[in-house]
Amino acid sequence: MFNKDTLKNEVILITGGGSGLGLSMAKKFAELGADIAICGRTEKKLITATETLKEFGTEVRWYSVDVREYDSTGNMINQIIKDFGKLTGLVNNAAGNFLSASEDLTPGGFKAVVDIVLHGSFNCTHHFGNYLIKKKEKGNILNIVTTYAEDAGSAFVLPSACSKAGVLAMTRSLAYEWGTYGIRLNAIAPGPFPTEGAWTRLFPTRKFEKKYLEKIPAGRYGEHEELANLAAFLLSDMAPYITGECVTIDGGEKLSGGQFNFIDSIMSRGKLKMAFKMLRMKK
Ligand code: HXC
Repeated sequence: MFNKDTLKNEVILITGGGSGLGLSMAKKFAELGADIAICGRTEKKLITATETLKEFGTEVRWYSVDVREYDSTGNMINQIIKDFGKLTGLVNNAAGNFLSASEDLTPGGFKAVVDIVLHGSFNCTHHFGNYLIKKKEKGNILNIVTTYAEDAGSAFVLPSACSKAGVLAMTRSLAYEWGTYGIRLNAIAPGPFPTEGAWTRLFPTRKFEKKYLEKIPAGRYGEHEELANLAAFLLSDMAPYITGECVTIDGGEKLSGGQFNFIDSIMSRGKLKMAFKMLRMKK
């Protein structure tokens, strides 16, 4: 489906692209021919990531920025346009998250996550959108949210749940409002994909990690390549009519709330089938 020119002529900015899923997406986009801009707060990470990305042969540059700062993100986007001549795509990937009982949150803790996730995504989107609209150029924005952004929210990650729900609302609101300018916005809602950033903050022990796995029908965590492929597809010319969508990629985890799903955990599938037969015979 993809080839080395699938994203040729694209210049894509990936926030938080120096590590984790951001870097995996950047690698995939570079492999498919895109020029890459990555940004983040830690220069060392960005420099190392840039070296790796250059191996794919396209132009790669890094920018040190805190996405929480509106003016700094604006300056960065202007600089990217100067350096590359244009900007065609943005992936709002930078995130912050930690586990906490909500009653123990401080206003500063709540604000830190909302500032990174919601304000950070708005800041980059607002500057990039204005550039595209003024230049009368088409463009693509992809927002990385979570499965709990959509309906249920999630206990113990309140700032993240509130922020990601906001980013999803922004995706859909702007997909409609900016559709007329040829700007597409989509979102990906990943389930658990192992990254150092998420794992060290969200899985305090191996026991947590193992228990979590029981919720996933696919019986495994996600592979970075799987998410990167989906991101490349949504940003490419293969998906010109898809906008305002949120694609879940979680091995079925999100479906675990089904009313009778739990009975699978009481007994084995074989015993369950026998029980169903007995119930039928009793009628
Ligand atoms: C409670 C905490 C806390 C914790 C920080 N704070 N860590 N509160 N529990 N574990 C509070 C601090 O007390 C402070 O509030 C405020 O947050 C800011 O803390 P700083 O450390 O000064 O902020 P900063 O250095 O900017 O760090 C931001 C951060 C941090 C969000 C707190 O975790 C971070 O930089 N994260 C970036 C990477 C990341 O989180 N990746 C995971 C994303 S995974 P006060 O009030 O004391 O000033 C993800 C996917 C989820 O989002 C789905 C997975 C299945």
